[in-house]
Amino acid sequence: MGMSRVNNPTGVFRVKPVEQSIRDTEAPEHRLKKDLSALDLTVFGIGVIVGTGIFVLTGQVARNLAGPAVALSFVVAAVACGLAALCYAEFASTVPVAGSAYTFAFATLGEFPAWVIGWDLVLEMMLGSAVVAVGWSGYLTSLLASMGLHLPPALAGEDPVFNLPAALVVLALTAVLVAGIKLSSRLNLVVVTIKVAVILLVIVAGLFFVRAANYTPFIPPAEATPAVGGLSAPLIQVLFGITPVAYGVIGIFSAAAIVFFAYIGFDVVATAAEETRNPQRDLPIGIIASLAVCTALYVAVSVVVVGMQPYRELSVQAPLADAFKAVGQTWAASLISIGALAGLTTVVMILMLGMSRVMFAMCRDNLLPRGLATVHPRYGTPYRITVLLGAVVAVLAGLVPLAEIAELVNIGTLFAFVVVSLAVVVLRRTRPDLPRSFRTPLVPLVPILSVLSCVYLMLNLPVETWVRFVAWMVLGVVVYFAYGRRHSVLARGVPTRR
Ligand code: ALA
Repeated sequence: MGMSRVNNPTGVFRVKPVEQSIRDTEAPEHRLKKDLSALDLTVFGIGVIVGTGIFVLTGQVARNLAGPAVALSFVVAAVACGLAALCYAEFASTVPVAGSAYTFAFATLGEFPAWVIGWDLVLEMMLGSAVVAVGWSGYLTSLLASMGLHLPPALAGEDPVFNLPAALVVLALTAVLVAGIKLSSRLNLVVVTIKVAVILLVIVAGLFFVRAANYTPFIPPAEATPAVGGLSAPLIQVLFGITPVAYGVIGIFSAAAIVFFAYIGFDVVATAAEETRNPQRDLPIGIIASLAVCTALYVAVSVVVVGMQPYRELSVQAPLADAFKAVGQTWAASLISIGALAGLTTVVMILMLGMSRVMFAMCRDNLLPRGLATVHPRYGTPYRITVLLGAVVAVLAGLVPLAEIAELVNIGTLFAFVVVSLAVVVLRRTRPDLPRSFRTPLVPLVPILSVLSCVYLMLNLPVETWVRFVAWMVLGVVVYFAYGRRHSVLARGVPTRR
C-alpha cells in the first residue's frame, strides 16, 4: 500500500501520500491564489489547445500524409485524447495540486517515475512554447508585410539569426504571468473569443468555396515518398519492416500522431488545479469541455479547408489563410492571420504557465532547488520560476527553428498520458478510500485503451523523434541521481510543510 512505501526514504519508488500533497498546498509561503472557475478553466483549455496544430499543421499533414482524410486523423487523435482526458479528470479531481501528471505520478508510482514525468513535461512545454512563439513571429511578419512593413531578415522571417519578435512575445507574456493568474485569465478570455470567432469564420465562409471534386479520392492511395523515408519514417513502419509510405489508411495514423499536437493543452488545465476554487467539480468539467469543443472545431475546419483546395496545393505555413487567398478572398485571409496571431499568443502563455506550475511542484518537493518555488508576496505567483523559465524560452524562441520539434513535444505528452492512465488504475488499488468526485468510467478498460492508443500514436512518430526523446530522458535520469534523489523532501525526512 502506498503509505508504507514512504517509510523507505532511500527507495526511488517512495510515494508522496496524496494527503501530504494537499497539505503542501496550504503552506503560506507556497500558497497560490484560488481564483479560477469551471468556465475560466474551459477558456484556459481552449486558449492553449487551439493553436499551431490547427492553424499550421493541418496543411502540412493533409498535403504530405493524409490528403482529405486529415479530418479522420483529427478524429483518431481526439479518441486517444478523450480516453486520456477521462483519466486526467479522475486524477485532477482526486489530487487537486499544482503539477498535473508529475503530482499524480508521485502519489502513485513513486518519486522516480514522477521525476521522469515532471522532467518530460517541463522540457516539452518549454520547447512547445518556444516553437509556438516562432510560429507567432511568422504570422506577425507576414501580417506586417501585407501592410508594407518589412522587418530585417536577420531578426524575423523564415531563417533569422535571432528571432526577435518570438523572444519579445515570450518576455511580455512572462511579465503577464508574474503579475497574476487572474489577469492572465482575463486576457485569455478576450483572445480566445477572437480566436474562436476566426475559426468559425473559416468554417462558415469556407463552406461557400468547397468543391466536391477536392474530396476525391478522400483517402488517396498509399505511395512511397522520400519525405517519409529513413530516420523520418514512423517507428512502427521500421519495426515491422513496412516500406515507409504516405497516404492510405496508414497515412491517416501517421498524420494523427502529428496533429495530436493540436490537442495538447487540455492536460495543462490540470496544472492549474491549485488555483481553482472548486477543483473537484471544475477540473473534470474544464478538461472534458475544452477537449470536446476543440474536437468539433478541428474536424469542421479540416473538412472545409481540404474542400477548398486540392490537398497537394495546401500551404504548409498558413494553410487556413492561404486557402482563402487561393479562392480570391484576401480580406478573409488577413482576418485569419490576425486570429492566428491572437491564438498563438495564448498558447505560448498557457504552455509557459503549465511549465512553471510543474516546475513549482518539483521545487517544492526539493527535487530541484526549493528556493525557486517561493511565491511572490503580492502577486501570489511563483515568480522566480516564471522569470527563469521565461528567459530560457525567450532564448530558445530566438534561436530554435520550427522544424520537427512539434513531434518531440507530442511524444513527451503521449508518454505522460500513458503514465497518468496507468496511475489511475494503481491509485484505485492502493488508495480505494480517497474521495473521487469524478470517476473514470469502466476502469480498468478505459485506462488500458488509453495506454494502447497513446502507445500506438507514439509508434507512429518518426525514428529520429524517438532518438531525441530517449536522449532527453537519459539526461533527466542523470539529474535525478545527481541532485533530486538526495535532496528530495522525502529523502531527508523533512516535513514538506514548514
Ligand atoms: N495545441 C497547441 C497548438 O496546437 C499546442 O498549438
